[in-house]
Amino acid sequence: MSSTFFIPAVNIMGIDCLDEAMTAIRNYGFDKALIVTDVGLAKAGVAGMIAEKLAMQDIDSVIYDGAKPNPSVENVEKGLALLQQSACDFVVSLGGGSPHDCAKGIALCATNGGRIGDYEGVDRSSKPQLPLVAINTTAGTASEMTRFCIITDESRHVKMAIVDRNVTPLLSVNDPALMVGMPQGLTAATGMDALTHAIEAYVSTAATPITDACAIKAIELISANLRLAVRDGTDKAARENMAYAQFLAGMAFNNASLGFVHAMAHQLGGLYDLPHGVCNAVLLPHVQSFNASVCAKRLRDVGRALGADIKGITAEEGAQAAIAAIRRLSQDVEIPAGLRELGAKLQDIPLLASNALKDACGLTNPRRADQRQIEEIFRSAF
Ligand SMILES: [Fe+2]
Repeated sequence: MSSTFFIPAVNIMGIDCLDEAMTAIRNYGFDKALIVTDVGLAKAGVAGMIAEKLAMQDIDSVIYDGAKPNPSVENVEKGLALLQQSACDFVVSLGGGSPHDCAKGIALCATNGGRIGDYEGVDRSSKPQLPLVAINTTAGTASEMTRFCIITDESRHVKMAIVDRNVTPLLSVNDPALMVGMPQGLTAATGMDALTHAIEAYVSTAATPITDACAIKAIELISANLRLAVRDGTDKAARENMAYAQFLAGMAFNNASLGFVHAMAHQLGGLYDLPHGVCNAVLLPHVQSFNASVCAKRLRDVGRALGADIKGITAEEGAQAAIAAIRRLSQDVEIPAGLRELGAKLQDIPLLASNALKDACGLTNPRRADQRQIEEIFRSAF
């Protein structure tokens, strides 16, 4: 079986790497950036700081702070209008998954025309997007380096998955110094999102030896560092290890894709506007319990990477050890116990399940499922 490996051409990482990244941006020869960010980072002055650093490189910019959590079609369209009015020749996304995804939608439509919904699915665009530099400030989604773009269609209350090689950023920047300000809850949720990426990629039907290596190293780093990063946000070593971990998990799922955790979590996010990482964290042990009958050995590897003692135990026992370790980590970083706590409603389960079955992320889940089985997993997670 052949496989293709996608990753941005250049990826700059490590504490205080932002200045090195600015030199790299200057060397591309761009004139004017649309900086896509969220209100929080704009108010905190981080977007202004980036604009200033670009100006030092003789690059003009305009800030668009309209990327909401779970960015919408409208967020993309407003940003695209500003980009066109301002004659920007490249896009800088600043933040976590939401600004990156919103920026991808803007950059893709800027060159391909049409509306972002036209590109729902896999590789539906025909042209490269406007060049995108993605500066990351969280450690979770890995959207700064993936070909995944998730945009909420508010009219249908669904999250559209745009999986397109053309939304891959040109340059990704992961400076953990920009991550120390993340609050505890966001650190926990984004870290559990990264763990979900690694585990879903490792048990995916499209896994390869390359994605396996990335996924296992990511799980080990998350197991050793997420609790520390949540407990003390200023722990730079833990922040840096989480930056590497989420990037490795991104390398894994960008190429092996995901599974039912994401396919189901997208529906919760789309219907109730809930944080992506928290939805994943709640669903992760339940989906892996469902998967265990077909990928117990793989889950035993996950258990070992999470620090479980798997010596001399069967694959089935190993899978259970992995699921227990996931639950422990989730509890330690104070993820809510179930979907009820998040405000989900039992009567919405049939709709959530039927939409989850249409989500492209579920295609590589190791075990097939029908409507009734997906409903059952949702119910078990309540
Ligand atoms: Fe995710």
